[in-house]
Formats: sequence, structure tokens, C-alpha cells
Amino acid sequence: MCGIVGYIGTKQAAPLIVQGLKRLEYRGYDSAGVCLLADGGIRIEKKAGRVMDLERAVDMDQLHGTVGVGHTRWATHGVPNDANAHPHTDQSGTIALVHNGIIENYLTIKKKLLNAGYTFRSDTDSEVLAVFIGMLYETLQDLEQAVRTALAEVEGTFGIVVISTHDPDMIIAARRGSPLILGIGNGEYLVASDAAAVIAHTRQVVYLNENEMAILRRDGFQTKTIANIDTHSVVEEIAFELEQIEKGGFEHFMLKEIYEQPITFRDGFRGRLQTEEGTVKLGGLATVREKLQSAKRIIITACGTSWHAALVGEYLIEALARVPVEVEYASEFRYRNPIISSDDVVIAISQSGETADTLAAIREAKLKGATVIGMVNVVGSTIARETDAGVYLHAGPEIGVASTKAFTSQLCVLTQFALYMGRMRGLSAEEGKRIAQELERIPEYISMILERADDVKAIAHAYAHASNFLYLGRGYNFPAALEGALKLKEISYIHAEGYPAAEMKHGPIALIDENMPVVFIAPHDEIYDKIVSNIEEVRARNGRVIAIADDEDTYIENVANHVLRVPRTLPILTPILASIPLQLLAYYIAVERGCNVDMPRNLAKSVTVE
Ligand code: F6R
Repeated sequence: MCGIVGYIGTKQAAPLIVQGLKRLEYRGYDSAGVCLLADGGIRIEKKAGRVMDLERAVDMDQLHGTVGVGHTRWATHGVPNDANAHPHTDQSGTIALVHNGIIENYLTIKKKLLNAGYTFRSDTDSEVLAVFIGMLYETLQDLEQAVRTALAEVEGTFGIVVISTHDPDMIIAARRGSPLILGIGNGEYLVASDAAAVIAHTRQVVYLNENEMAILRRDGFQTKTIANIDTHSVVEEIAFELEQIEKGGFEHFMLKEIYEQPITFRDGFRGRLQTEEGTVKLGGLATVREKLQSAKRIIITACGTSWHAALVGEYLIEALARVPVEVEYASEFRYRNPIISSDDVVIAISQSGETADTLAAIREAKLKGATVIGMVNVVGSTIARETDAGVYLHAGPEIGVASTKAFTSQLCVLTQFALYMGRMRGLSAEEGKRIAQELERIPEYISMILERADDVKAIAHAYAHASNFLYLGRGYNFPAALEGALKLKEISYIHAEGYPAAEMKHGPIALIDENMPVVFIAPHDEIYDKIVSNIEEVRARNGRVIAIADDEDTYIENVANHVLRVPRTLPILTPILASIPLQLLAYYIAVERGCNVDMPRNLAKSVTVE
């Protein structure tokens, strides 16, 4: 969700903030704004649209000041327009704030302020907080204390940065439920919602903890809890390189990330797979090994694409480790008072490590005594820090809003996790070795599929004008079908649904006619004949079939209109390979339709509000 950048130092802040906002734009892109402190005054420029629209409207070189904040918004309260864009100020116009998150009791606070004669210029919950801080400042005459007092009354989530003409050499930052990172420079400090905005300036960062605030000045910084107890901050190093968050010659981040998968997949098992022993070394799980050995049940919780990976995980873990697995949408799990015991292991899967519902779900699971494991991509993220143990995905920064490489890395980690548990619970070394050997071949197979991208492009061209798509798969590839459909709908705005192929007869078959492309994932496994029957059913109703089949399948051409080939592999690994042409198909269709692939409408990369 929204991106935040703040700067205090000796350089001109505006260009630096705008550069940071551009790196954060994948988090939200419906409006942008900056605020600078200079010559005893405050200057705010904000606009609906992308950061580049703000840049076009305002000459950043004319905005002077070495202290400032900026924001790129993903609307929650109030439509994306200039007034609702951040920064917001208090009534006196001397205190400015940017906010990420949701103030749930903003209406109650707003009512109080309206009764006291305060007025508002926007429809946002964030402005209410700015005005509230301003009101408190009038009596307290101390900005830090005013912020702290306001935050004590606030319900909901926030990452905020506040600056003011009352103390122009200070930035205040605070978080609850929305990440904030301090960038530690030489005589300069940054604060941002994401390391991507600070890496061009420093690799040294401090991750603010829940309910923590930071006071930044040019000569140092201090962290404390919002309740004013000093805290000890640990300076850490950013774990990725600047080039990893740049497009590197690709037209879109999404395409770059699709093409990175041979490498990111390998990074997911490098140093972990012990092929000869047919097992896996997962150092991050050492402390919970016994718990895993005795676990009666595993619950995997996640949202979106990560939830699809979780579904594949269910099949994998049950098959290899013979432990019952349940998969839950985090948003449902957190509110339904789930029955959990200390014998349960809960796994949270998340690319960003910041998804509000997933975070709340693990807090609920911990409260109920479960052991909680994270499978997270972003190092140092909140979920990574709040879980008892975990396995990082090592997919590197994922900037494209539609998740691609993180998904295959999730499958890589889940396969290894299933193998790890399986070997503890009776899976033979021989079987383990067979899986490990094949997993090692996957990067090469992915490269082979990527070399055939033109085949996918041709199909994308033929079907880019379709209004609906159906994606069908069975077993391990039912979740892959769901993921294929999600990819298409989120970036091309074509309505697409995924189903277990056999479910088609129970309803979706009514939709099939000559205008309905149906994508079948048809690997040569033990239910291949069943899926071929499902394909026949679609063809009998004039549906157009695009099949994903393996290189050795000589029959599929007889039934499908189009075939996209992938190398043959073990059935448990087929969803990994199938997802590559599905990602490419969604990508090329979206490009054909002129859609903004990296910043699809209404979406944001990291969903830090529930
Ligand atoms: C889809 C997509 C989303 C995320 C979901 C969970 O392409 O990216 O569906 O998968 O918002 O996000 P994480 O994995 O960061 O918890």
C-alpha cells in the first residue's frame, strides 16, 4: 500500500524524495505529494495521478529545503484527487503528515474535532490525524508529545511521518501495523516504508518495531515506544542490490521477474538441498524441528497468489509427509475464532511479509499456542520477524504488482519443506533423492520454457480480445489454474476463473461456446486420461482449448486447438513449470490490450490494510 519517504540532511530533499517515491510507486499509484520545510515555512505540492504527473506539474528543483516528506497513495478513504493526496496538514498549516494504513476510529475523532470548530479539506482518515495532532500541539506545545498522545487514542494501523515548522530540524516517524525503515546515512537520515526507497543512499537501515517511534535529527536519531520508553535499535544491512529493483533493459518489471525465475528458483534451494541424502537442510527451522516431527496438523494461511501456493503446499505436504494440512485465507482465519492447539503448526506464506490479514492470522495462531512458521520473501519484514521460525524465499525484490517469481519460489520452498517433513516421517531416502534431483533440474526447464515465449505470444495475440477465460487443472495443477486465472484478470482486466477440471460439469460448462478460451493444464500424470476427457467435453461444445502439456505428449494435439509445451517432470513439480507459460500468457495479453502491466488499476503490491 502507500509509499512513504522522508529525508533530513544537507542535500535538497525534493528530488531525492521524488526519486524514492518512484521506487515505491508499485505500492500505490493513484496520487502523490511532497512537503518541504524551508525558511520558516512549509510548502506542499500534491496531485492525483502518478509521481510523474506531480513532476510534470511542479519543478522539483524549485522546491527548496533539506527536510521533507513524500507519499504515493493507494486510496482507502476518499477518491484519488488532489485534496485527498498526502501530505495533509493540521488546521494551522504548520504540521504536515503522511500516513500509510487506516485510522479505524477516525469518525469519532473527526466528530470531536468538528465540535471543537476544526474544519477539513479532504475525506481522508489521515487528515483527521494531522488535525488532531495540531489540536493537541496547541495545548502541549511539544510536537513529539502531541504525536504520542494522538497515537495513543488512535485505533487501526499506521506508518506515519510528521514534520513541522515548530521544529524544522526534526522528523518524527511512528508505526503500528505498517512498516517503516530508517536509512542511516552520514549526517543524513531517511525514513521510508520500504528499503527500495533508501538503497540508493545507504545500505544501513533500522527496521522500526511495532508501536515504535523514531525522532530523526541531522546529528542522530532516537527510537522509543509510542508510550515513551527508550528502545534499542539494531542497524542492519539491506540484503539486495540496487540493480535488482531496476528494469535492466526489460520493458516491464513483470517480464524481468518472469525471466529471472531460473535464477530465483535456484536461489531458493541453493545450500539447502542435500541431494545425495535425499533431504533438505532448513537452518531457519532448526529450533522448531521437534515440533514439526510431532505436529498433528499443519495449517497454512496466506492471501492471493501466496494462498494459491499454499494450496499446492497442501497437496505436497500431505503426499510426502502424510500430515493433514488445511489451507485458510488469512482474512477468514483471523476472524472465525479458529480451533488451534499447541500441537498445530501454522505456516504463513507471504511475499511482502507485511500483508495485514496474514499478520493478524499469525498473531491469532500464536495467541492460541500454535508454533508459527514464516515463508516470506522480504527480509526483515514484520511477518518474518514475528514468526517463531522460518524459511526465506530468496526471490529478491519483486516490484511488478502481479506476483510471478515469488510464486515459483514459494513452490520451491514448499516442496523442500514437504521433503524435509517427509524424511522425518517415513519418506525413503531413495524417494527423497529422486525428488531432490528433479528439483535441481527445474531452473534449466524454466529456461527452456522461456525460450519458447514466442509460442505464448502468438496465442496471446489470437485471444487478447476475449472477454472471459476459464482455467482448468486437476490435483497439483488445480491451484496452478487458479493462479493462472488470477494473473490474467489482475493485469488484463479480462474476467477469468480457475476450477478443478472435473468441477466444470457442475456449472461452468454452461459458459462454454466458441468465444470461450479454456486453458487446460494437462501434464502426463496418473489422471491425464481424465483431463483429456474434460478437454473433449469442452471441444464438444465448441470451446477453444489451449493446453499446457509436456514435450513427450504425442496425443494432446488431437484434442487441443493450441498446445504450449513444457518439459516432462515429476507430477509434484508440474505446477511450477505450468505457471511459467501462464504468467507469459497473462503478460502478453495485457500488453496486447495496452494495459499498464506493472501498475494494474486498483491494485497495490503490499496490502497493509485489511
Ligand atoms: C497477485 C498478488 C496478490 C498477493 C497477495 C498476498 O499477483 O500479488 O494476490 O499474492 O496480496 O501478498 P503477500 O504474498 O505479500 O502476502
